[in-house]
Amino acid sequence: MSIILAIETSCDETSIAVVENGVKVHSLVTNTQIEHFAKLGGVVPEMSARMHLMNLPFVYKQALDEANMTITDIDQIAVTAGPGLIGSLLSGISFAKSLSILHNIPLVAVNHMQAHIYALELEYEITYPMLSLIVSGGHTELVYLKEEFSFELVGETLDDAAGECYDKIAKILELPYPGGPQIDRLAKLGQNTYELPKPKNDQTLDFSFSGLKSACFNQLNSLKMKGEEIRVNDFACSFQETVINSLISKLQMAEAKYQPKTIAIVGGVSANSRLKERAQVVFPNVLIPSFKYSTDNGAMIGAVAHHQIKRGKFASVSLNANPGATVEDQL
Ligand code: KG4
Ligand code: ZN
Repeated sequence: MSIILAIETSCDETSIAVVENGVKVHSLVTNTQIEHFAKLGGVVPEMSARMHLMNLPFVYKQALDEANMTITDIDQIAVTAGPGLIGSLLSGISFAKSLSILHNIPLVAVNHMQAHIYALELEYEITYPMLSLIVSGGHTELVYLKEEFSFELVGETLDDAAGECYDKIAKILELPYPGGPQIDRLAKLGQNTYELPKPKNDQTLDFSFSGLKSACFNQLNSLKMKGEEIRVNDFACSFQETVINSLISKLQMAEAKYQPKTIAIVGGVSANSRLKERAQVVFPNVLIPSFKYSTDNGAMIGAVAHHQIKRGKFASVSLNANPGATVEDQL
């Protein structure tokens, strides 16, 4: 039996979980900086790092208390080492290293992208091969897992991530940060009536959202300049349908090529209600984590760390952050 203390600080959530054998969550405590950054319209990296440093001891204490454990019950400490914001990553890594040295507990360095995929194991059993679409604020990637804990990046965005695009369009629609959930909510009240270009409608497995983003900016600016009304709900709906069509159609192409036994959609944008609805029609057995495990959380760090522990992959105290890591990198 292995009890893992799992720490996530790659962006704007300070999140710590106590996870047993990578599947049983004894506690999950998350302190989000979202409200703070909503006022500023987006994450300020330096501030985020400082806030993690301030919050970590409290989140740590609460996570142990809620699990009804003390640090002496912990067998391994897992921490996100990349990708992410360098200062934020280093806050979590420094905290994890200190605990590891002080209490003589082995340290595991986790890849945040792999963690989004293995968040699935907190709720489902995975059958391989699996094809996984990771859609988050920083990434849009198609990842093929031929077998357990093997990651092949088979398609990715050439520019903006889907979540980033949601957040930027929301900003010009004057909706609060993060924009994804706002657009999701308003799109339900609107119709797909604005004409927008189809993003990277080709035979590759790569995505591109910057053209769509520019087209949205141009349409909205031109309407504003002419003093014409912007039907926000309709615009949110049109934008969302365009993004989701692109995600689903690339996932279908990848499915045809790789013939996986399991299809999964993970990461913050997988919380989108319309994406879930569409995906469940096109891929009836698609695996999508529930909300608490789709956005950044400590439990998914513990889930993937379990696979590293099984393989004897531990980190040394000289562990550094790797802000630009890809899903294929072992940290
Ligand atoms: O995975 P995540 O929590 O953090 C990163 O690793 O980036 O993803 C955050 C992203 C943000 O861009 C946010 O707007 C988006 O996920 N998001 C959503 C929804 N909930 C969160 N996008 C669309 N619809 C949602 N319901
Ligand atoms: Zn994430």
